[in-house]
Amino acid sequence: MRISDDVLRSIKERCPIEETISRYVTLKPNGSRFTGLCPFHSEKTPSFTVFTDTQSFYCFGCGAGGDVITFVMREESLEYPEAVKLLADRAGVRLEHNEEEEKAMRLRSRVLAMNKEAARFFHDTLVSEAGKRGMDYLRARGLKKSTITHFGIGYAPDSWDALTNHLKSKGYSESEMIAGFLASKGKNGGCYDTFRDRVIFPIIDITGRVVAFGGRRVGDKDPRKYINSSNTPVYRKGQTVFALNFAKGADKLVLTEGYLDTVSLHEAGFTGAVATCGTAITSEQARLLARYFDEVTIAYDSDDAGRTATSKAIELFKPTGISINVLDYKGAKDPDEFIRRYGADAFGALLYDSGSYVDYRLELLKRDNDLTKPDGKVRFVNAAVELVAAEDSALKREVYASQVAELTGVDVKTVLGEIDRLRKREGARERKNEQRQRIRASFGSDDKANPEKRNNLRAARAEEEIVRCLFANPSAYDIIKAELTDSDFVTEFNRRIFDCIVGVVSDGKAPALADFNADFDPVREMSAITRIMLDADKEPFDAAALKKAISALKAEKGRLTRDNIKEMSPEELKAYISGLKKGGASSQKE
Ligand code: UTP
Ligand code: MN
Repeated sequence: MRISDDVLRSIKERCPIEETISRYVTLKPNGSRFTGLCPFHSEKTPSFTVFTDTQSFYCFGCGAGGDVITFVMREESLEYPEAVKLLADRAGVRLEHNEEEEKAMRLRSRVLAMNKEAARFFHDTLVSEAGKRGMDYLRARGLKKSTITHFGIGYAPDSWDALTNHLKSKGYSESEMIAGFLASKGKNGGCYDTFRDRVIFPIIDITGRVVAFGGRRVGDKDPRKYINSSNTPVYRKGQTVFALNFAKGADKLVLTEGYLDTVSLHEAGFTGAVATCGTAITSEQARLLARYFDEVTIAYDSDDAGRTATSKAIELFKPTGISINVLDYKGAKDPDEFIRRYGADAFGALLYDSGSYVDYRLELLKRDNDLTKPDGKVRFVNAAVELVAAEDSALKREVYASQVAELTGVDVKTVLGEIDRLRKREGARERKNEQRQRIRASFGSDDKANPEKRNNLRAARAEEEIVRCLFANPSAYDIIKAELTDSDFVTEFNRRIFDCIVGVVSDGKAPALADFNADFDPVREMSAITRIMLDADKEPFDAAALKKAISALKAEKGRLTRDNIKEMSPEELKAYISGLKKGGASSQKE
């Protein structure tokens, strides 16, 4: 889809890149730039850079780059038009829509309305005679009526068509029900209720819309304990957090593994409880939570699977800057059971006393290493040093170092020395990686956006110089136009960049990174384009360098063509010559 220039211009004006990105990344001013920890790879020292003058971002560590739209596409996992829409909405810019989008939008609003209707149906069923099985189950689990009402919990009867018939009577079509995951397609072409004999937890987004459902079985006919909505036009599983609509604004965020844990915690007064919806937490969900809270307490199940999940969640939370605590409890398999057994006060005591994740990890390390033996001690100290070295506060490092020293009898100075050494080495390694990444990019040895580059290095470098000059200085088009067309380009990727800029320039406009988003993929291609355009070692525009690049490219193109001709079969040669006779058809833009 093409988005009008006016819209793109208003977005650019009203969504400064530094402002948009700082919703996701903590940025620190650094001259005319901002830097922060890259959200696209894991790093400890910031190489992610936001350039205010060119309104672009580039990570010197992993090479991710682009403009504000590219950033939003990657961060929010959105397609180009959706990212534009999100930014336009935030900035209050109105978009016109084409027919296809109108259709998609209509489907979305139909599915949302249908979900609301379904949630009402499930809840009404639960509190009616038909919902007795569900109600008995929930009461046996210890939930109060008020909690059931608050969460809008419902019951899907043990029937193949209770919901589908109801929704049909309200005017919804089978294809809408299937799109919304409420119905599934049968073999005979008809459709049937997806959720049957299940207690239903509506999943509500932060704006209060019912976007999906989680259903726990009541009987044991179905081997699947839970059925969760898959992604639908209104739902992205990995970006939605169950109960965040209620938890927003609570004073303590508690991340649990299950719907029932979350519901029980709310009932016990811990209104900051949330859960992911049947999947492990994603980095998007971690960032979403970090936007609302400064601190998280992870309260996963107490078994080995829960511990593994905790370690994974910690890794995802680290780059968000949120402070991380882990609830370490014993005597119950999950928070729900803990509260039922020991009461809310006991849980509160745990929660307000929960250790930071360093404490938690140190506990695990202590458990896994025999500190009475020398090799156990060494392993423990090494692992602990690595853990503590990642801590940014010097005070905390010192506190932990003395704990480690005390536990092992190793001198605290030695422990601190090891920590410092590791921190220095980490910093040096990241700097080295950056350097390596730059070198690789310039040799094209791992240029995924332009795979032709490594075998056509001279040509590709000349092409990059040409597109960079043209991008920085559209008036260079006069010089370029006189000398070459896009058919002189050797690599397809750079040819596409060139065509795109020429399209903008010949409309009399100044090109911007935003002009590429519609036609280039946000990960590899936009990053490569940003790298080319930002080439910091070069003058923005240098006529002599441009002319040199043009002749270098033409010489390369000539050489390659000659090489090709030598290898052509007689038929290929004939085709080649007849192509030449027709004239530069390939250089025309469609
Ligand atoms: P649990 O098995 O711990 O469920 O799975 P729970 O929420 O504590 O429920 P009860 O207490 O056993 O009734 C934790 C979460 O994992 C997902 C669900 O989101 C569940 O809440 N899950 C579990 C599934 O998606 N499918 C399954 O089959 C099981
Ligand atoms: Mn559980």
